[in-house]
Amino acid sequence: MSSLDNVPQRIEALRELVSYHDYRYYALDSPEIPDAEYDRLFQELRSLEQAHPELITLDSPTQRVGAGPLSQFEKVVHEIPMLSLSNAFSEEEIGNFHRRVTERLKTDTIEYTAEPKVDGLAVSLLYEDGVLTRAATRGDGVTGEDVTHNVRTIPSVPLRLIGKDYPGVLEVRGEVFMPKARFEELNDNQREKGEKVFVNPRNAAAGSLRQLDPRVTAARPLEMFCYALGRAQDEGFPDTQYEILMKLRSLGMRVCAETRKVDGLPGCLEYYHTLLGKRQNLPYEIDGVVYKVNKISQQDALGFISRAPRWAVAHKFPAQEELTVVEAIDVQVGRTGAVTPVARLKPVYVGGVTVTNATLHNRDEIERLDIRVGDSVVVRRAGDVIPEVVSVVRDRRPHRAKKYKFPTRCPVCGSDVVYEGDGVIARCSGGLFCSAQRKQSIQHFVSRRAMDIDGLGEKLVEQLVDRGLVNDVSDIYTLSKAQLTDLERMAEKSAQNLLDAIDKSRRTTLPRFLFALGIPQVGESTALALANHFGELGAIRAASKEELEQVPDIGPVVAENIYTFFRQTHNKDVLKKLLRHKLHWPVIKPRKVGPAPLAGKTFVLTGTLSAMTRDEARARLQSLGAKVSGSVSKKTDFVIAGEDPGSKAAKAEALGVETLDEARFMKMLAKKERQA
Ligand code: IVH
Repeated sequence: MSSLDNVPQRIEALRELVSYHDYRYYALDSPEIPDAEYDRLFQELRSLEQAHPELITLDSPTQRVGAGPLSQFEKVVHEIPMLSLSNAFSEEEIGNFHRRVTERLKTDTIEYTAEPKVDGLAVSLLYEDGVLTRAATRGDGVTGEDVTHNVRTIPSVPLRLIGKDYPGVLEVRGEVFMPKARFEELNDNQREKGEKVFVNPRNAAAGSLRQLDPRVTAARPLEMFCYALGRAQDEGFPDTQYEILMKLRSLGMRVCAETRKVDGLPGCLEYYHTLLGKRQNLPYEIDGVVYKVNKISQQDALGFISRAPRWAVAHKFPAQEELTVVEAIDVQVGRTGAVTPVARLKPVYVGGVTVTNATLHNRDEIERLDIRVGDSVVVRRAGDVIPEVVSVVRDRRPHRAKKYKFPTRCPVCGSDVVYEGDGVIARCSGGLFCSAQRKQSIQHFVSRRAMDIDGLGEKLVEQLVDRGLVNDVSDIYTLSKAQLTDLERMAEKSAQNLLDAIDKSRRTTLPRFLFALGIPQVGESTALALANHFGELGAIRAASKEELEQVPDIGPVVAENIYTFFRQTHNKDVLKKLLRHKLHWPVIKPRKVGPAPLAGKTFVLTGTLSAMTRDEARARLQSLGAKVSGSVSKKTDFVIAGEDPGSKAAKAEALGVETLDEARFMKMLAKKERQA
């Protein structure tokens, strides 16, 4: 663009192009051009504007971070108040809501829109002649704060609308939020910089929007979903909630992709369950779903009661965070001596289960939370993850609550607690002298994926160790029927079953045996790699650190662990005794050259296979070098779906991961096993 006359047109054309591609990217999730091309357009616009600053307008995509910091927030009065929703916590309450709607409207057939209730904060956007002129928080519903300077920095909020078909004045409402993954990254960064971490994505979003300096907000990963019309100046706007949202989407607004039109109560409830199932895998936090009567004329007929519409309701999910009280702080000693602090809690129902313990991770975490016995704490349990203490409610702390001191001696055996690495990991130095470590190592040895001794549960191991019947894993093979029947709750029949199971376990595989030994940092896949590489136990025992490092995925630290393990007198004795008890396994043909046929591939198994158990399928895949994971993600290469596959198959489909049925799986297995 050399001719000066063309500059204003080119600038305008570039602004439209960049806005259009922002729209494809942020609102439709469907970019049309590669990022590099977008960057070129954006750069061209920026350079032209730099050369002609008089042509810069506030709605230019280069002007998201506008002027410098504000000194205070201005108040904004919402012409139409921003109301809230009434909440329902059960299907029964939703049934009542639907009944009231049908009774008032005198019809049984009601269409609703169903939307996720995104956990962020409500914001109103005002567009005048298609340009964003004001953004305000909800505040108390009547008066909010002017956060235009900050909302402008949110990439999914258009600074100007797309096309020409919009009313002169358009007010849109929606939720500003922070995606879960971005929230974690932000907190990691904050922690690294020694700055404040946020309790949850909603607080992070609210804190980020309440900044006087838009440059701070611009650096925070905020997004926005629009979910309602505030007002539209002209008639001609659609007359249902769903069509309104689609219209807003066509104007460049981001509308949540989970938005649906549903029929009556059954439609609402089905939507609720579908979303509850998806909750963990959505990239943003939701705390429920919202049903809205779809027809605007019906909404008008229903009207409002106090501060909430009669035509909408929030159907809340079970809370993932609850308040409870710390009754004690204990430490647990794991198999390798790791000392992990745990908060013992007053039982609380959260995330769909009753929680009584929450991990406190390590000494640093205790320091960070400054958690004390008697404290009121926020406990979080999301999905299947271990419950965690999120924060301490300081102003509820009882007087004289004492600062927690991390033990310097192992509470089980009294040995010194030593700190590793950067001082975060605490370990009991008692080794197998510590009965906690001994019990755990025995439990690990007998576990299903190790020696698979059925019937040797936690309580039994505890008794066997406490009575001195089992001091190390080799003693399991010396147990007699008389010793067993002497134990609590052990009848003749179960004693015999256990002895049979112990006997059966003598015939095992080398990878299982290696895994069972509990060498620090040698999990199932490392054990398998070792077995495949060396083929037999003797070679592994004799291997130098350098030779061990030749095995795929084994680095210097793990090599050192393996090397040291086989040179400790105690371990050498136990191994000798174990082998004397006739433990045996088939010899493996060592494979020292070339990668395994399925190396680098990740599989997920779901449903029932007819030809083999899932454990067998896992073992066969692993012996071909594949990773077998419990959950489907974008990194999964194949999902093997047997009979009655679970939600994993659905997730695979959603993510576009290849799914194989049993027949195709068997074919692949046979082919790869021939290659091996
Ligand atoms: S509609 C008059 N739809 O929930 C109805 N609200 O208690 C106004 N929210 O302050 C709200 N997702 O921050 C609506 N799809 C959704 C929503 C939603 C989240 C929040 C919003 C509002 C609160 C209502």
